[in-house]
Amino acid sequence: MDFVDAALDSVWPAELRTDRLLLRPVIPEDADLVRELLTDVRVRAYLGGPASHERVASRQAAYPATAGAWAVVRVADDQAVGLASIGPDHRCEGRAEVSFQLLPSAWGHGLGREAVSAIVSWWTAVVPGGGPVVAVTQAANVRSRRLLESVGMVLVDELDEHGARQCLYTRGGDEDDSDLRWVRLIASRRDEVERRRGAQARATAAGRRLPGDLTVLTADELAQLCPARHGGYGRICARAAGHTPDLHLGRAPDGAWIAWLTSRAP
Ligand SMILES: CC(C)(COP(=O)(O)OP(=O)(O)OC[C@H]1O[C@@H](n2cnc3c(N)ncnc32)[C@H](O)[C@@H]1OP(=O)(O)O)[C@@H](O)C(=O)NCCC(=O)NCCS
Repeated sequence: MDFVDAALDSVWPAELRTDRLLLRPVIPEDADLVRELLTDVRVRAYLGGPASHERVASRQAAYPATAGAWAVVRVADDQAVGLASIGPDHRCEGRAEVSFQLLPSAWGHGLGREAVSAIVSWWTAVVPGGGPVVAVTQAANVRSRRLLESVGMVLVDELDEHGARQCLYTRGGDEDDSDLRWVRLIASRRDEVERRRGAQARATAAGRRLPGDLTVLTADELAQLCPARHGGYGRICARAAGHTPDLHLGRAPDGAWIAWLTSRAP
């Protein structure tokens, strides 16, 4: 279990109150609200379009059983006007993601920002070990981005997902604010991991172009190969001499070509 789930379980069910809203756990009687939100063309404009009948039915069943899923109730007339949730961010273990949607009739009154601000503050101040919180929204979703920026969230990363450019926001604050530092660190590490993964795949592909039996290589060809033993395991590297020091290619015990990475120079 992700520790976001564990943190949520320790405080759920929870109700949040703001000046104009009550956020209460979703109940089966919210089924019409769920259907309206999931099938509204405007609400779904940046969320992949209106959901299918099957998807609506599965969400109607799932929401009341989901820790971190609230109905957003306008206190003045006791109307449920939206849904908001916090839960594990599937992109990164240990990170929470907040999401929100209101019926169009409730837009333009600052209710979305009131709900999101309450959730982020609650998560940060009240939930033990909740970890950093992010929100991801399409770059083209101007209303949503304005909302996030108005509650002090900061754009820290961009990614492509569901066929669209997405902006990743996290809770801002002081320069040494932990969420900001943490999420920026993950973003920079992801670049590094992906660069390395790409390099590893390219090196493995290069290995497949070498003959299975290196002894068929001529002396000249063999002389082109890297003569060093690299890294902590002392594996024999079969790449050309003078290659980038951190990426090596050789044989696994089962004979398959493998590429490996080490920060040690040959
Ligand atoms: C994202 C969404 C909740 C934003 O709704 P919203 O009402 O525009 O957002 P806010 O709560 O920030 O309200 C801001 C608006 O209320 C106005 N407002 C009126 N009274 C206000 C008050 N007391 N306080 C603050 N703003 C107020 C603001 O001027 C602003 O209007 P503007 O957009 O014309 O400038 C809504 O567009 C939505 O549900 N979209 C579909 C779902 C979605 O895309 N979700 C995001 C991905 S998770």
